[in-house]
Amino acid sequence: MRKRLAVYPGSFDPITNGHLDILTRGLELFDTVIVAIAHNIEKKALFTIEEKKDMIMRSVKDHLRVKVDSFEGLLVDYVKRVDAKTVIRGLRAMSDFEYEFQMASMNRELNRGMDTIFMMTSKDYFFISSRTIKEVASFGGSVAGLVPDIVQQKLKEKFKR
Ligand code: PNS
Repeated sequence: MRKRLAVYPGSFDPITNGHLDILTRGLELFDTVIVAIAHNIEKKALFTIEEKKDMIMRSVKDHLRVKVDSFEGLLVDYVKRVDAKTVIRGLRAMSDFEYEFQMASMNRELNRGMDTIFMMTSKDYFFISSRTIKEVASFGGSVAGLVPDIVQQKLKEKFKR
């Protein structure tokens, strides 16, 4: 039988407990989930792709059905390359919806064989984003419980003054 495979794409700069929540729930629906880190040309990232990959791999080491990868260019091309049909995205609030709806619609226009499924972020994580995590950490605030331990440690190193 064909294995159910999904791609969970994002910038993951850095991965948060909100991402991990979506990933864990995605594993209930799919046999394998590929966490696909985008080389995002528009966004200036705090972490390199290698650093992001390392933090994600350490955070998901208990999940044997998770693969961590990165891609350049269009998501639809990557999804085709790995022979997947489904993309998972998390939705935190209405404000996420417009951007996500546009992106999913464009992706479907580019690849009719692909669909995006959305999962509502758990109530404990809806206020977390990589951007706010970085901002809090940059001013020395605590992000304990909001990101994996390894991310907490790496943020401390980045913002060491
Ligand atoms: O974590 P993010 O930054 O919200 O993730 C956005 C991401 C990486 C999924 C999106 O920017 C993306 O798919 N980039 C790859 C380029 C692409 O396919 N762009 C067309 C989308 S309409």
